[in-house]
Amino acid sequence: MTDTAWDSLWIDAAVATLDPDRPGAYGLVPDGAVAVAGGRIAWAGPRADLPPGAARETHSAGGGVITPGLIDAHTHLVYGGNRAREFELRLTGATYEEIARAGGGIASTVAQTRAADADSLLAQARPRLRTLMAEGVTTVEIKSGYGLDRETEMRMLRVARTLGKTEPVDVITTFLGAHALPPEFAGRPDAYIDHICTDVLVQVAEAGLADAVDAFCDTIGFTPEQTERVFKAAAAHGLPVKLHAEQLSDQKGAVLAARYGALSADHLECLGDDGVAALAAAGTVAVLLPGAFYCLRDTRVPPVDRLRAAGVPMAVATDCNPGSSPVTSLLLMLNMACVLFRLTPEEALAGATRHAARALGLGDDRGMVRAGMRADLAVWDISEPAELAYAIGANPLRAVVKDGVVRD
Ligand code: NIG
Ligand code: FE
Repeated sequence: MTDTAWDSLWIDAAVATLDPDRPGAYGLVPDGAVAVAGGRIAWAGPRADLPPGAARETHSAGGGVITPGLIDAHTHLVYGGNRAREFELRLTGATYEEIARAGGGIASTVAQTRAADADSLLAQARPRLRTLMAEGVTTVEIKSGYGLDRETEMRMLRVARTLGKTEPVDVITTFLGAHALPPEFAGRPDAYIDHICTDVLVQVAEAGLADAVDAFCDTIGFTPEQTERVFKAAAAHGLPVKLHAEQLSDQKGAVLAARYGALSADHLECLGDDGVAALAAAGTVAVLLPGAFYCLRDTRVPPVDRLRAAGVPMAVATDCNPGSSPVTSLLLMLNMACVLFRLTPEEALAGATRHAARALGLGDDRGMVRAGMRADLAVWDISEPAELAYAIGANPLRAVVKDGVVRD
């Protein structure tokens, strides 16, 4: 037999493959090995079963744990300014909805984002992205939605694409034109939705700037009817959809999203049984955002027991945004998903790897340590995977492999 030639080999590790085809929690291989070739995982399994092969480089994981590279499936990390003042207002009693209705909230970030040129948006977003990456994130989704006019929406998406090209991380972009009503369309939401569907989304799609389309279906966002028009326009351009659904009220957004085969429905604090059933039937991922729940001091917990019982895959993401979730720690979200939402540490980690990949339409490509998958790995100085969700403020990251290459 000819020995296989690998680019690199990782040993001295427990490998949390997150592969459901492997027995046991986390798909854990206690004394594992991972071989990498051509940017893909060539082999993963017990070191004792490693086929004969030669690697150009052999790396020790130092007795730690290897997981798939983390995936943050829901962020709004490109924006101008911040909303610390609004944080102060909320602490004196104002609610998120009251602030939004008074012209603050998303509208205030829209004004600051419109005023920022691409270089300024890049300079503001890059540290946020790097903070996520420093915790082992190898893929991140970034939404538009703070421009709400063609020029600024496209600028945000171009900045997101630039971040993906200039940082060793994959950026998946989502067009969120239907995030809020811009001031120039005040009182005319249907006219704004027309504008999105016939102008902005068309240009965004033709320029190849978006990988998916999202909307905010809620009392301070858009109605299900308006959302559906956006979904139809997305479908006409061959773009998959996702939805901010059931965050503040039950608008049956998840049912609508499922009807359009959405990749994900996100937030879901007010999700009803009909929504749970619809997501299960459609195979739509429920993206849980404990940072927004926590920062808004929400008391309605997403129906995790019912989602679990129905077999709905649950992802966990930061929702990094200046208003409801100024969060740049996905590890903290794993902890909060467990403590606040009662996920198990294994579910939380699957939510930031395998299920997060699926929420981005990338489930066949990443999110597990399995032969054939992209070689995106995080190597941790921990002795068991539950430590990732257990500790707060610790960052045990030892190394990151992106597309087979060790990231500096
Ligand atoms: O995902 N819910 C709507 N959108 C964002 C919040 C955006 C903002 O407040 O700036 C979210 O929580
Ligand atoms: Fe969001």
